[in-house]
Amino acid sequence: MNNCISKKDTKAVYKDGNTVRKVFAPDYSKTDVLYEALNTARVEDTGLDIPKILSISVEDGQWVITSEYAKGVTLTQLIKEHPENIDSYVHAMVDYQIAFNKRSNPLLLKLKDKLVRQINALELDSNIKYELSTRLESLPKHNKLCHGDYCPDNILVETDDAGKITAITAVDWVHATQGNASADVANTYLMLKLVDESFAEKYLVDFCKKTHTDRRYVHSWLPIVAAARMTKHIPEEKELLESMIDVCDYQ
Ligand SMILES: Nc1ncnc2c1ncn2[C@@H]1O[C@H](COP(=O)(O)OP(=O)(O)O)[C@@H](O)[C@H]1O
Ligand SMILES: [Mg+2]
Repeated sequence: MNNCISKKDTKAVYKDGNTVRKVFAPDYSKTDVLYEALNTARVEDTGLDIPKILSISVEDGQWVITSEYAKGVTLTQLIKEHPENIDSYVHAMVDYQIAFNKRSNPLLLKLKDKLVRQINALELDSNIKYELSTRLESLPKHNKLCHGDYCPDNILVETDDAGKITAITAVDWVHATQGNASADVANTYLMLKLVDESFAEKYLVDFCKKTHTDRRYVHSWLPIVAAARMTKHIPEEKELLESMIDVCDYQ
């Protein structure tokens, strides 16, 4: 099939007219595909303007989710093309996040429940797990829409000729939950930090400034979101994640 936008080991995304088709590998879990579709639909139900799911089908033994096509490029591409505009891109990314954090849907999985499950599933020292669980219990539980994987690859933007963003949306809502926005911000900060420290810093500073959040509060979520991220078992991330989780011992 032509018009491949993105290809990974287990899934690929193709443009097809005004739609995109996300095609999953033949052995991809049916539960996971249907969960992704349902979760995305639940985000649509919050009223947030995201590319809508149009159909779910099986073609040649492969599950396919068809959605509306969002015009433009990913924020990752845009940053590469216009590195001089980085500050305004951080602003747009943060503004969109603050906007979707105002939405909610009581049917979404609760972020706290997900984090508890992820921490319990980890093969970590039991004292560290206890510290993480205690910290999680002590942090406030909210019900704001959280993306769960809010990073420049999942942000789609339209721009004018100078690279100024004129429209922004996000895709890949499979990890969306309802919960504490600062936890979602800590997760994004962590993902950005793994790739580009200075971008991560700008992002955190901008979010904290606009929402009058003390950065220490976002930081208090870091050991927890780092532990959750360890469930992905990405070897290159292990060292940094372990160092973030260790913080628990000393605070
Ligand atoms: N609705 C869409 N409109 C335009 N591009 C999309 C759309 N959905 C996904 N894409 C593109 O495909 C890429 C991969 O899609 P995504 O849903 O994030 O899959 P993955 O689970 O592989 O990260 C995105 O980074 C984006 O570039
Ligand atoms: Mg993605």
